[in-house]
Amino acid sequence: MIETRGLRKSFRSRAGKETKTVDAVRGVNLEVAEGEIFGFLGPNGAGKTTTLRMLATLIEPDGGEATIAGADLRKDPAGVRRRIGYVPQGGSTWDDSTAREELVLQARLYGIGKADAERRATRALDAFQLTEYADRKCKTYSGGQRRRVEIALGIIHEPKIVFLDEPTTGLDPQSRAHMWDEIRRLRAEGMTVFITTHYLDEADALCDRIAIMDNGEVVAEGTPADLKREISGDVVLVGLDLSATPQAAELLDTEEYVNKLETADGGGLRLFVDDGATAIPQILRRLDHAGLDLRSIELHRPSLDDVFLTKTGRSLRES
Ligand SMILES: Nc1ncnc2c1ncn2[C@@H]1O[C@H](COP(=O)(O)OP(=O)(O)O)[C@@H](O)[C@H]1O
Ligand SMILES: [Mg+2]
Repeated sequence: MIETRGLRKSFRSRAGKETKTVDAVRGVNLEVAEGEIFGFLGPNGAGKTTTLRMLATLIEPDGGEATIAGADLRKDPAGVRRRIGYVPQGGSTWDDSTAREELVLQARLYGIGKADAERRATRALDAFQLTEYADRKCKTYSGGQRRRVEIALGIIHEPKIVFLDEPTTGLDPQSRAHMWDEIRRLRAEGMTVFITTHYLDEADALCDRIAIMDNGEVVAEGTPADLKREISGDVVLVGLDLSATPQAAELLDTEEYVNKLETADGGGLRLFVDDGATAIPQILRRLDHAGLDLRSIELHRPSLDDVFLTKTGRSLRES
């Protein structure tokens, strides 16, 4: 459904007399299959929105190529536009109209006749469970309701693929779970969904495949399960005071069961081991023997954050 090769974009911004160049997207290659929920996971500033806006024909790439639903991004941007829906980050504010008015208007903008537009609006309101508020002004809606209207607007013309830029940012946990259901429903109807997120749990729970983006580049790609499996073994989190951390790191780094060791910013260690259950007693003995005070010890299976950490040297949670 989407194929990109070497997609890139730089911005020049001026601060006073100085001009600065930001390489927002540095050669992105992606393949998104029909009918999947594809996630773009990365911290703020990673280049997710810029990539999405290029794919949605809103800004022109500096280089590279892309085919979207069979249409060439450079040669046939109008063809791309017809086949896609795009829901921007943060959303729009049309406070004084109702959801129904907005939906009808949007459909009319796509050249859909009045009667058909009204039918589609009614159907969309029903599908997104908005019928109850359909004729109330949008400014009275909750954040979750607004987000649902925005997505309904983005797909009123029944595109093959929809781009959702951070659809759940700012929503409470219940509205987020609700939104995940809506997105899964779109997939069940055969739509391809491309979503960006900086939430690890969202990428993990919702997406069939993800690309992890950092600093304008895709640093890892695959199903969440495959990406986690790539990081073999377990992670043991050793809670230590900042002052005890360097000595503990030195001690444990030479233990043969420790494959890799990282220090956490606020103190403590993250140890990558083959088998956490047998490593823990050895770690405890080693630290105890050296008289180092242990605050806590925790075993966990690799998470997407560990994937991010392994690829970038930073924690996504912290960035
Ligand atoms: N119009 C612009 N002008 C200048 N810099 C921009 C512009 N849009 C984005 N950037 C910069 O490009 C980088 C990527 O931004 P963005 O694509 O919005 O990231 P994300 O969506 O992952 O948070 C950031 O450093 C951002 O400041
Ligand atoms: Mg963004």
